[in-house]
Amino acid sequence: MSGRPPWEARALALLACPLCGAPLAELPGGAGLRCPEGHAFDRARQGHVTLLPPGHRPPSGDSAAMVADRVAFLSAGHYAGITAALADAVGDRGTLLDLGGGTGHHLAGVLDGLPDAVGVVLDSSPYAARRAARAHPRAVAVVADSWARLPVRDGVIGAVLVVFAPRNGPEIARVLRPDGRLVVVTPAPDHLAELVGPLDLLHVDPDKAARLAASLEPDLEPVGTRTRGRRLTLSRAAAATLVGMGPHARHTTPAAIAAGLARMPERIPVTVSVDVSTYRRRG
Ligand SMILES: C[S@@+](CC[C@H](N)C(=O)[O-])C[C@H]1O[C@@H](n2cnc3c(N)ncnc32)[C@H](O)[C@@H]1O
Ligand SMILES: [Zn+2]
Repeated sequence: MSGRPPWEARALALLACPLCGAPLAELPGGAGLRCPEGHAFDRARQGHVTLLPPGHRPPSGDSAAMVADRVAFLSAGHYAGITAALADAVGDRGTLLDLGGGTGHHLAGVLDGLPDAVGVVLDSSPYAARRAARAHPRAVAVVADSWARLPVRDGVIGAVLVVFAPRNGPEIARVLRPDGRLVVVTPAPDHLAELVGPLDLLHVDPDKAARLAASLEPDLEPVGTRTRGRRLTLSRAAAATLVGMGPHARHTTPAAIAAGLARMPERIPVTVSVDVSTYRRRG
């Protein structure tokens, strides 16, 4: 891993071959990564590495338009409270993995407060990974599938973060250090309530918290949950980017959203309410 900043080498050292699980070394000139068996993976010009077994087609993940809206909304600071809640729950840890980490915005915020830590952003969307590759100097970005074997070595991660994204309990438990933590952020029932009704967005499933716990608990043990809330005042334009970056965008049309927003005031009060749940490895 010569020629790379030491932080980046430390982050790359967390990764594993998606085919055989062996550690990966950098190819000359930073062109990609290769395991001792000779399985090789390209590094894109934008900096991210695609660690998918040949022929594996992951769910496509967020589109270019969704990622553009996510960049606009998050960089305006509207979800700074979520980043702060994550940093609080993560505490002082040296190695972080953000699963379904999107543009890397939250991981970068957590890394800012941990000057010795390194991180990996994993997402199935190449559009998101392009952004994540430059989210933070101490983070690397990987295109992979959270539902497959994660391209990460056993027992090396101090904290796995999952913010509004899929989580794979057995794989998260495998990559966590024995003293590691999983921190999951999920929407609480009143999250974005002022927009969900008028714009006919997806409702938060009231059984979601129980389903989340049930899906993780064979491999991970709950440590605690805190509900964190905050009131935002959004312009109609900001509300449109919030809708556009989320899964609701796939269930309604831009024209219906625009018509719904046009009926709302120019400054819209919006509740942000999330559950931040922490887990540790069983045993
Ligand atoms: C609602 S976004 C959240 C992004 C980021 N955690 C944040 O809060 O800004 C969900 C993310 O999960 C990614 N995703 C969806 N399915 C995935 C999968 N199977 N493996 C990895 N990432 C996935 C999407 O591409 C998207 O970036
Ligand atoms: Zn290999």
